[in-house]
Amino acid sequence: MSSPPSTHTSDVLVIGGGIIGLVTAWRAAQRGFATAVVDPEPGGGAAQVAAGMLAAVTELHYGEQMLLALNLASARRYPDFAAELTDLTGHDLGYRRCGTLAVALDADDRAHLRELHALQQQSGLKSEWLSGRECRRLEPMLAPGVRGGLRVDGDHQIDPRRLAAALVAACERAGVVFHRVRAERLTVERDRATGAVTADGTALGAGQVVLAGGSLSGRLAGVPDDVLPPVRPVKGQVLRLTVPKRYAPFLSRTVRAVVRGSSVYLVPRLSGELVVGATSEELGWDTTVTAGGVYELLRDAHELVPGITELPLTETRAGLRPGSPDNAPLLGPTELPGLLLATGHYRNGVLLTPVTGDAMAHVLATGGLPEEARPFTPRRFTADALTEQPA
Ligand code: GLY
Repeated sequence: MSSPPSTHTSDVLVIGGGIIGLVTAWRAAQRGFATAVVDPEPGGGAAQVAAGMLAAVTELHYGEQMLLALNLASARRYPDFAAELTDLTGHDLGYRRCGTLAVALDADDRAHLRELHALQQQSGLKSEWLSGRECRRLEPMLAPGVRGGLRVDGDHQIDPRRLAAALVAACERAGVVFHRVRAERLTVERDRATGAVTADGTALGAGQVVLAGGSLSGRLAGVPDDVLPPVRPVKGQVLRLTVPKRYAPFLSRTVRAVVRGSSVYLVPRLSGELVVGATSEELGWDTTVTAGGVYELLRDAHELVPGITELPLTETRAGLRPGSPDNAPLLGPTELPGLLLATGHYRNGVLLTPVTGDAMAHVLATGGLPEEARPFTPRRFTADALTEQPA
């Protein structure tokens, strides 16, 4: 299909203005690239729903050690990253170095947490085992039945809505051009990605195109099948409650547990907002908030912290995580010249924002990923890589 001639051109066109697209655009513009972002609502997307835990240690899973290294690299960058964004834009990001307490409510949970503790220790991570009594001393609102827990002082939080707004402001200051419309189709000419056509028929041309569309990345028209990222939507329902001043401090750090096999977490902000998340549902593009989802979150959170039933419930929302086959992001060049990916961040988009921005700026400038990001090349999912046998 032929495309209309490009009326706008840039060095770098980022398709998708969520936090991953924005940080990519900001860092690219800082490197001197003329950069544009195409998105109907920059700063929207999953960041409007996410709780913003920076949980490299408490969200460690067996088999994900490679991802752990990237998560830790990004967590280490957060203090400077947040300070830079705040200095530049004046936005308070709600970055709170409060730590996390993961607790167990029964013997099964305790066994699970003990295993997590052992894995953390094998991986050289800092966490401390506490008795139930010690957990309640730290967080008096915890249920009396808490059987023990893991104190992780290095897992912090940020407010993703504030982060997204600050990134929009930083992009504007850096001269990033925003096209506030949906990208309908990637443009490919002579086997090279050359831009996109928007829903209003505008042709955007670019030297390099970064597809950073979150869960939508896997279905942009015009992307050849063999480079279309294997990204799927994983629904998460999240609640927001408000802690009235007379109850503060309700919780002083993030508190989480696995209740009946599902993760529940309570993330307290200094503003008084208390975020309770999250369901994990494979239901395609559905973003309905359901009675069942809200019920399960409140039930599980109430088992952990019974006092939450006193708090006003101020918001219920569902978002879509961009899930990938190995739960890790896809970063860097594809087999289609001119097309790069920054997507598939699944449960770690907020945590991975600083390192993703740096990695994408590096690859846009040099053609190669920095060492720490190399394992996350999209090429690990190409047909050849998947059929390769170990020697
Ligand atoms: N990282 C938390 C979540 O995805 O629910």
